[in-house]
Order: sequence, then C-alpha cells, then structure tokens
Amino acid sequence: MQIQENFSLRPYNSFGIDASARHFAGFSNEDQLEELLLTIQKSPITDQKLLILGGGSNILLVHDFDGWVLKNEIMGIEELHEDSEFLYVKVGAGENWHEFVQYCISRNWAGLENLSLIPGNVGASPMQNIGAYGVELRDLFWDLEAYHLFDRKVYTFTETDCEFGYRESVFKNKFRNQFAILSVTFRLRKKPIFHTSYGAITQELEKMGVHTLSIQAISKAVIQIRQSKLPDPKLIGNAGSFFKNPIVSKEKYQKLQSSFPDIVAYPSLGNDVKLAAGWMIENCGWKGFRNGDAGCHGKQALVLVNYGTATGTEILALSKEIIDSVAFKFGVILEKEVNII
Ligand code: FAD
Ligand code: EPU
Repeated sequence: MQIQENFSLRPYNSFGIDASARHFAGFSNEDQLEELLLTIQKSPITDQKLLILGGGSNILLVHDFDGWVLKNEIMGIEELHEDSEFLYVKVGAGENWHEFVQYCISRNWAGLENLSLIPGNVGASPMQNIGAYGVELRDLFWDLEAYHLFDRKVYTFTETDCEFGYRESVFKNKFRNQFAILSVTFRLRKKPIFHTSYGAITQELEKMGVHTLSIQAISKAVIQIRQSKLPDPKLIGNAGSFFKNPIVSKEKYQKLQSSFPDIVAYPSLGNDVKLAAGWMIENCGWKGFRNGDAGCHGKQALVLVNYGTATGTEILALSKEIIDSVAFKFGVILEKEVNII
C-alpha cells in the first residue's frame, strides 16, 4: 500500500485527462482502507479531500485533485449460496465489470449478458445503477457492503436502501462521497430470461445467424452493437454518454412531437417519456463537431470525446454549449451523467 505524491491520473480516467492527485493510494481490503483514513486524518485539514476511484470511466477531471484519491482494488468472486432458481454471488468492488460479466456467462449464470462491455469496476456499478439494452443493475442486484468514511463502520444496503433510479442511487445523491462500496452481491438466474426487445439486438442476432437464443449469443450481439458506435476509450478518450436521456411529461413530448415529428423517444415510468438526447444533440448540429481536441463523437452524439490533449475544462465548456443549444431549440435541459471532479 504505497502512497504516491503528485501522481498523474491520466492512465486512471477513460477521458485521458492530464490531471494529477496530490496523494494517491490503492487499497485491497477494508483494513488497508482504514489505515489510509487514519493517515488522512493526521494530514493538514486543507489536504483531506477524498475521492474513491474505480476504473475512472465515468468521471471528468476539471482540476488537479487537491486531496487523496483512493483506488478501490478489492478483488474476489465468491459463490455464497443457491436455491432452485438463483445463485448469489459476492464480488469485490475492484473486479473489472466486463470480466466479471464474462466470468458469469462462461458458467451459464444468467442475467448480466445485456450489460456486457460496460467499462469500469463492479464497485461503481450501483453508483448510477448502470444500464444498457433493456437491463439495469438493479434487476440483478441483491445487496452491497459499504464502508462509511466518517463513522468507520460497514453497512449493508438492500435494493430498497439504494434507491435506484435511471442512472441514480443514494450514493450519487444524499450519501455522495460518504461511502466506499466494498463488495456487491448479485442474484443471478440458473435459467435465463432473455431480453432481446431493446434496440438492435434482434437484428444483430439475425445477422449473426443465431436461431437458438443463449446468454452467450446475446452478450456477443451487445458487444458488437456497442463496438459499432461507441468509441473505445483506449483509442479515443471518453466516458460513455455524457448526458442522461431527459425524462419529460407526455404533454411536453406531444408538444415537441408536433414541432419535431422525427423526435426519438421511449416510454418511461407512469405517463412520462424518455427522450433520446443523442437525437436532440445531433439535430442541433453537434455530431462530429471538434474544437481543438474536445469533440462530440461522429457516431454517437451523446458521447463527448478527447482526441488527445483536451483539458477537462474544455470538455466541460463544450458540454455547456451543447446544453444551451438543446435548451434553446427544444426547451429541454440536459443533465450530466458523468461525475465532474
Ligand atoms: P469511476 O469512474 O471510477 O467512478 C464513478 C463514480 O463512482 C465516482 O464518483 C467515484 O467516486 C464513485 N465510485 C467508484 N467506485 C466506487 C466505490 N467502490 N465506492 C464508492 N464510490 C465509488 N454506463 C452505463 O450505465 N451504461 C452504459 O452502457 C455505459 N457505457 C459506457 C461506455 C463507455 C465507452 C464508457 C467509457 C463508459 C460507459 N458507461 C456506461 C459509464 C461507466 O462505464 C459506468 O458508470 C461505470 O460503472 C463506471 O465505473 P468506474 O469503476 O469506471 O467508476
Ligand atoms: N440517436 C441519434 N443520434 C445519435 C445518437 C442517438 O439520433 O447521435 C438516436 C437514435 O434514434 C438511436 C437512439 O437515439 O436509435 C438511441 O441511441 P442508442 O441506442 O445509442 O442509446 P442512447 O439512448 O444514446 C443509452 C444509454 C447508454 C446505453 C444505450 C443502450 C443513457 C444516457 N445512455 O444511450 O449508456 O449503452 O442506451 O442501452 O441512458 C452510458 O450511460 O454511458 C451509456 C453509454
């Protein structure tokens, strides 16, 4: 457990932003986290800002971080128990998400296949209740253990405690920056329930010549769809969707539809409607836009990119211009999905 000073975070954020941490350390168990917190307590009060880091794939660093970045490296996958329908699997927060999904798929543990190829680590997955292709984390979630950074105790959170919503949880809201998630337990199915109605999955499966559905085939289809439109952070810096898809009332949607008949939208909870932010951003002319090294991706307008040396401030400034133009044209305020640090 080595503490590094003035440590470059460039390799630790998928936007590839060149910012540094005043202090940086990894922890691979609860004791090490406790030890680090004691060290922090002894450091000057001005220096005590804290960030728990996972894979860095949903953050935008707009400054050097003047405090402690603690990277969660808790590993381990443990089969807890099973019943006739489900398997309960406890996973360390530092495990890579996609590798864990593939681990489950190779054992025929079903449920996570639609969530293939989402970057980042298991510990961050409940933060925004990650979701893709018709499935959300909450559908497979059983509970999690989280360490309270101030009262130094471990708490168990059930699904209800987490207050999951669309790209939301209690950890992004009232408990923001208060907990380090240590492990997540998933409830996976022995017999799969296939989710193929979302987006292009069915077409992709047809293209692949799949006649008998399997979780392996769905995972492969999802991976191929994602690779066809989302930029690979190893090649072009990004954090996936920069904004959330906005949810509006049915009345607001109908008004928009009368002015913009092609507007793309999906049913949401109750009478609400979820608008495709990518469509609105593209229709404001941003798709493929580039200013220096900050840009809006050419295949997915919801994704902002760093072509090399953009700063976090430049990406943030571009996001503000996009928010303003979407508000001006559609009267809809886009909310950021990415965590601004
Ligand atoms: P980080 O970026 O490290 O952290 C994100 C936030 O969580 C930070 O505020 C951090 O402080 C906090 N945090 C991280 N770990 C912990 C912990 N153990 N305890 C407490 N707090 C913690 N997201 C989706 O939902 N669906 C998608 O389809 C999707 N596609 C993406 C595609 C690409 C190409 C990219 C780059 C990103 C995409 N994302 C998607 C966003 C991202 O992958 C997820 O949000 C992921 O869960 C972030 O994990 P991370 O470990 O990288 O989190
Ligand atoms: N669209 C456009 N232009 C664009 C992008 C999208 O017109 O440039 C329209 C198209 O009609 C397209 C529709 O928007 O069919 C939806 O696009 P897509 O299927 O790519 O999904 P999305 O709504 O843009 C959301 C999530 C993604 C997730 C996919 C698949 C949010 C904010 N984003 O994107 O999650 O992978 O659905 O489920 O909800 C992320 O959160 O980082 C992320 C990538």
